[in-house]
Amino acid sequence: MRKPIIAGNWKMNKLTSEAVELAREVKDKTGTIADREIVLCPPFTVLSAVKEVIKGSSIKLGAQNMYWEVRGAYTGEVSPTMLKDIGCNYVILGHSERRQYFGETNETVNKKAKIAFSIGLIPIVCVGETLQQREKGETLTVIEEQVKTGLSGLTKEESKGLVVAYEPVWAIGTGKTATPEEAEEVQRFIRKLLGQMFGKENAQAIRILYGGSINPDNISVLMSCEDIDGGLIGGASLNVESFLKVVRY
Ligand code: PGA
Repeated sequence: MRKPIIAGNWKMNKLTSEAVELAREVKDKTGTIADREIVLCPPFTVLSAVKEVIKGSSIKLGAQNMYWEVRGAYTGEVSPTMLKDIGCNYVILGHSERRQYFGETNETVNKKAKIAFSIGLIPIVCVGETLQQREKGETLTVIEEQVKTGLSGLTKEESKGLVVAYEPVWAIGTGKTATPEEAEEVQRFIRKLLGQMFGKENAQAIRILYGGSINPDNISVLMSCEDIDGGLIGGASLNVESFLKVVRY
């Protein structure tokens, strides 16, 4: 049985006071939920403050990116050991916004995924096709390249802890969600690829999230798909009411 993950990706939102307030409300109102894992991924600047708030609860902390070296002359970067030190359990890697605006590639995602595991951070590796790629019928080819290159060289043992997020780029922040059929087709394909890479049994343990305009109204039907093991939530995670509704799908 794969325990579902509901992860809030706050992106570049929330000042300290706002972040603390949101985290506190989430903590207070999700106290007894044990059958799913809640992860908050705030910006770097408020990771410590949010960690302080969720201390003692089962809510996990995630970062939205990191560099692939542990220290050194890399002005402006944040290392995996720094994230671990601050109390992060997870790190989102290869989000489409990072691929689109900041030059993230499958190769850099791969370097980051490997170092994340070696430091004890669980990567949430994002994959997804653009609208143009979907319209050209390239969805599965694009996903295959992202999965095979992005996750190459991970051990079978590491693979069991891995989290993958399928986020069609055309569904992110657009209000346009993939239908359960569209999502499940790709989620199932990803699990098949993971089976080829890490063995069928390990692939069954890997949690594959869906992301892209998830909201309180569409979460339940998406979660009813066999290969959807949770959600990466952007917009709907910024507001306590909508995030809690999604958490309680
Ligand atoms: P969205 O973002 O829920 O606002 O579409 C999801 C994501 O980018 O992770």
